[in-house]
Amino acid sequence: MKNYAIALIPGDGIGRDVTEAAWAVLEAAARHSGITLNGARFPWSCAFYKDTGMMMPSDGIKTLQTFDAILLGAVGWPTEVPDAVSLHGLLLPIRKEFTQYANIRPHRLLPGVNGPLKATGFDILCIRENTEGEYSGAGGRVHQGTSGEVAVETSVFTRAGVERILRFGFDQARRRRRKLASVTKSNAQKYSMVFWDEITRRVAADYPDVDATSYHVDALAARMVLAPESLDVVVASNLFGDILTDLGAAIQGGLGFAASANVNPDRSAPSMFEPVHGSAPDIADLGIANPIAAIWSGAMMLDHLGEADAAARVMAALEQTTSRGIGTVQGKERTEAITAAVLSSLS
Ligand code: NAD
Ligand code: IPM
Ligand code: MN
Repeated sequence: MKNYAIALIPGDGIGRDVTEAAWAVLEAAARHSGITLNGARFPWSCAFYKDTGMMMPSDGIKTLQTFDAILLGAVGWPTEVPDAVSLHGLLLPIRKEFTQYANIRPHRLLPGVNGPLKATGFDILCIRENTEGEYSGAGGRVHQGTSGEVAVETSVFTRAGVERILRFGFDQARRRRRKLASVTKSNAQKYSMVFWDEITRRVAADYPDVDATSYHVDALAARMVLAPESLDVVVASNLFGDILTDLGAAIQGGLGFAASANVNPDRSAPSMFEPVHGSAPDIADLGIANPIAAIWSGAMMLDHLGEADAAARVMAALEQTTSRGIGTVQGKERTEAITAAVLSSLS
């Protein structure tokens, strides 16, 4: 019987509720498929920081390295710990240290979910660069607190980093509808995005069977609202991908439906699976968070582990649940009721 070691990091706020929900569904799906998931829970979070002064122990990365995958809820409790401390102490180092350079975020409507758009037939796979670009962390502040203060935050785009994310996107496009949108802003950013466009053209030459188009990010944002069915794979830098995937979440019915996978395609380190949403302090402890995004992320984890059968069971159960109208309207059912409905749909 196949056995997988999974690190669970529920984190903060609704991250805790949705991780428990996803874990219950994943364990049940694993049983149906004849595999075992061994979960180890790590309490790393803003509460952990308040106790220890660290978001995770100094050997946290080393500890996680031994797992087959990581399932994360959400990180951040800004009234207690500044976001720049909590995210740079846990989520972002994991993505970078484990070279999870491909952040995969699917945007489509589950059956029974009414999005805000007239269009319903879209199926977008956003591939967000996840380790460099605008979120490289390079920068600094000088003359702090004076009227002459300066803050600089430098985007870092490397040939290796841009090329590998584009190749990853083209490979995904080949498995889908063979269309790729490369997200740029080379009309304003004349170094980094001109470089991005050049590499897009170079990589596209290796994929003559994929129809590649470059779109400026502003125009692409409008296209995601006005003609989302015209898009297939979208490859974007870290910042552009971050913003576009909350837009993607909005058009698929809300953040409660947006799943994501932080993938290390070389498999030299574990990949991490988490919903796109954050800790939602405004609804934390109310028991009304939608667990669907986290459960879907769990299905992506099973797929990544090579357990396509178990992943398909989870997706089928999710789709059966939403097609019955359960979990489709924010706040109508409680987290537990949605989870119970998904569990009872598993077969
Ligand atoms: P958020 O995603 O937490 O919430 C935005 C809005 O969407 C809120 O109104 C929230 O109630 C709603 N929402 C989010 N997920 C939902 C769900 N599953 N079901 C129902 N409603 C849901 O974004 P924010 O408010 O900007 O951030 C809150 C905290 O989370 C901050 O500390 C932020 O830095 C952090 N954050 C963490 C991650 C992560 O860990 N991956 C992602 C985004 C934000
Ligand atoms: C996301 C989040 C994170 C990001 C934040 C919390 C640092 O918004 O996963 O989309 O920008 O990567
Ligand atoms: Mn985001």
